[in-house]
Amino acid sequence: MQEKEKFYITTPIYYPSDKLHIGHSYTTVAADALARYKRLRGYDVMFLTGTDEHGQKIQLKAEEKGVTPKEYVDYIVDGIKKLWKTMDISYDKFIRTTDDYHVKAVQKIFKKLYDNGDIYKSEYEGWYCTPCESFWTKTQLGDDNKCPDCGRECSLTKEESYFFKLSKYQDRLIKYIEEHDDFIKPVSRKNEMLNNFLRPGLEDIAVSRTTFNWGVPVTFDDKHVVYVWIDALSNYITALGYLSDDDSNFKKFWPANLHLVGKEIVRFHTIIWPAMLMALGLELPKQVYGHGWLLLQGGKMSKSKGNVVDPNILVNKYGVDAVRYFLLREVSFGADGVFSNEALITRINADLANDLGNLVSRTVAMIDKYFPEGIIDDREKGDFDDDLINMVSKLPQEVENLLDGYQFTNALSKIWDCISRTNKYIDETMPWVLAKDEKNRNRLAMVMYNLAEALRIISILIEPFMPNTPKKIWEQLGINENTAWDMSKTWGLYPTNRKVRKGDVIFPRIDIQKELGNEVKQQEKEIPTITIDEFSKIELKLAKIIKAEKVEGADKLLKLRLKVGDQEKQVVSGIAKYYEPENLIGRKVVFVSNLKPAKLRGIESQGMILAASDGKDLGLVTVDKDLEDGTRIS
Ligand code: MSP
Repeated sequence: MQEKEKFYITTPIYYPSDKLHIGHSYTTVAADALARYKRLRGYDVMFLTGTDEHGQKIQLKAEEKGVTPKEYVDYIVDGIKKLWKTMDISYDKFIRTTDDYHVKAVQKIFKKLYDNGDIYKSEYEGWYCTPCESFWTKTQLGDDNKCPDCGRECSLTKEESYFFKLSKYQDRLIKYIEEHDDFIKPVSRKNEMLNNFLRPGLEDIAVSRTTFNWGVPVTFDDKHVVYVWIDALSNYITALGYLSDDDSNFKKFWPANLHLVGKEIVRFHTIIWPAMLMALGLELPKQVYGHGWLLLQGGKMSKSKGNVVDPNILVNKYGVDAVRYFLLREVSFGADGVFSNEALITRINADLANDLGNLVSRTVAMIDKYFPEGIIDDREKGDFDDDLINMVSKLPQEVENLLDGYQFTNALSKIWDCISRTNKYIDETMPWVLAKDEKNRNRLAMVMYNLAEALRIISILIEPFMPNTPKKIWEQLGINENTAWDMSKTWGLYPTNRKVRKGDVIFPRIDIQKELGNEVKQQEKEIPTITIDEFSKIELKLAKIIKAEKVEGADKLLKLRLKVGDQEKQVVSGIAKYYEPENLIGRKVVFVSNLKPAKLRGIESQGMILAASDGKDLGLVTVDKDLEDGTRIS
């Protein structure tokens, strides 16, 4: 028997520092769709996910709660596993970096690298950000010693540390990346790695810590624990049994076909990780794909900002297939996208309730009405048939090509084109008119057959994305055979003389007004009322924009010079995506003039201008008459 082709796919391992949010679900749902697709295609799939449990941040978090780090992570990991169950994540293995076999293998990896001379002991001095567990140089910090990532205070730290000879691998890495076009995707991330990090030069990195102990101990020097990223990246091989008694999975599945990661950790996966693998004499993963972020209207979702969206709530309200569909459809994979409840409900109503749901209920209702004993064998061809059949018959190959390139947004879009085409076929053939005359019976049978057959094929192809919906459709169509993936490739497998079964609406329409209305009310409840005295603490003035320019390196920010009566003020404002600087000159805007100055990207902002935003667009607040700048607003 020919051995099955293997497919090894991984998600990042998540920090169990807090509950996961919809952004984390995004990565995992994407990986799950690909794993399911490969299984349906007959691959031997290994789908790995897990948790990255060590590090100072988690140690501090546990201390705050008065529990041990292990107790703390056990609790969070339990919730993460439940969440993956809720989201129908079909992982084959869940690794925890606190698992004994992982800890032992990491210790062996560290020792191996040390024995080979790729790790050496030295001293590290730098500015350390505890929450981010990152060292920075003085130039990276600027005058205020704030962490460039999180903005919190860093402290000057001197530490004995083991170092990994990353610099040694620079040339090999550049050569490898240049010669392997598919290694880093999308291509923009490959260029970013080459131009911003690799070509300017790599420095050796500190790979152990002595300032805390919640980590994997270095076996030959017990003051040290292994740096969290070395510990974490190793999971991709330790989970397969690398350096343990049973390494059969390692032999079978390594190298990974795909590491799916968020864009901010592409650097770790395409520089540090491959260098480690080169040092260990192992093959490199075939591809690292850096996807974009799921943003909220105000920016990145973050646990510390408290603006996270809980996927459990969404699934309870709208169902898991709807949420999965939205995540995979709305945001073009690789790019950033904005999450909003409104966008989610709009997609559910338009694509799921209207396009797919209606197609199912109309088709089943008509077959039930016109052919209650099943569609008959004598069928007559007619106009519009070939067009529909051609389009739907091509679909399986198109979806495979797109999914083989990990482009599921485009694959879904192609499937929905066929759903729309099939709906249009109903309007074109007008079965209700055909049904009026008995002599059209054979033609009517063909129209019904084509609808059922198009739906059969479409429902097979949505399975990787929406694992529960296909079965519901098959039940209503009265079939439980010819639903395997390859059965989508032949037109005409829907059996005749099959009774359909009208069932529940597969995607009920959501009353957007009611849903979002409730939300607004909830938000209103959460914001406390203030007195007029409290309001009068805010000084608002009319200001005229006299200069506007882009802030280098920050694509969202504009630096504005304002004239406010006889004063001039400088403001940094996040409006760059919505306004060209030259179009702002002369505009009069509402300015909060007594706001405490703040630094954004190192530039002082002496107040704030007001704007309204619905997440898609943004408009500056202004007054409806041409008044002098400096005029007080109350
Ligand atoms: N523990 C490291 C990964 C180690 S992998 C060897 C880590 N963990 S994380 O929990 O902070 O993030 C895990 C993944 O979730 C990252 O790929 C990150 O990009 C992704 N996301 C977190 N928030 C996200 C969004 N808002 N949108 C999309 N993905 C997001 O990094």
